Amino acid sequence: MREKLVIGNWKMNGTRESNARRLERLASEWRGASGRLLGVCVPAPYLAQAQAMLSQSAVAWGVQDVSEHESGAYTGDVSAAMAADFGCTYAIVGHSERRQLHGESDALVGAKARAATAAGLTPIACVGETLDERERGATNDVVLREMDALIGALRSDTAKMVVAYEPIWAIGTGRTASPEEAQAVHSTLRARLAQAGAAEVPLLYGGSVKAANAAALFAMPDIDGALVGGASLDADEFLRIGRA
Ligand code: 13P
Repeated sequence: MREKLVIGNWKMNGTRESNARRLERLASEWRGASGRLLGVCVPAPYLAQAQAMLSQSAVAWGVQDVSEHESGAYTGDVSAAMAADFGCTYAIVGHSERRQLHGESDALVGAKARAATAAGLTPIACVGETLDERERGATNDVVLREMDALIGALRSDTAKMVVAYEPIWAIGTGRTASPEEAQAVHSTLRARLAQAGAAEVPLLYGGSVKAANAAALFAMPDIDGALVGGASLDADEFLRIGRA
């Protein structure tokens, strides 16, 4: 049985006070069940707060990016080992905002995924096409190129990652891929993972997921959960997505 996961990506949002309210609500309301996981990826300065507030709960936490390096003279970077030191389970790597705004290449994202697994974290590796790529019919080429870089970097650890398909045109736009559109890409990704001996990797969908559209997405055979941006900032909405 593949794990079902709903992961919140808070992006660069939060204050200690607003986080405390949100984390408290998640910790008290979320009832874990086997194979059904809820987690939040918080900004790095708040990892200690997430650890303090979630460690007695069924909610996991993680970081939104890690360095590809183990340690050393990399000013401003956060290593996977540091995230692990704060009890993280997950590390998002290759989010489209980092690929686009920080120029992260497929090779760099692969190296970050490897750094995460080396530190005992589960990488949540993001893939997805732009609107222009979709309209040109290049969606599968793009996501498979990104996936192959991850498989090439992780090799025998490929089964240790989680993959999130996030069409860039659906992120923060209110425009979700239809369940059928998302399923079509997920099934392509699943086939490639199966070839690599990692058919059980959970495949999340991300892009304007809300409580109102979550159940229809999760009903698709290859959608194992969601990576949620904006809606994860509202604890009750996020819990509703988790329960879906
Ligand atoms: P939204 O849910 O705000 O569209 O963001 C999706 C996302 O980028 C999650 O990583």
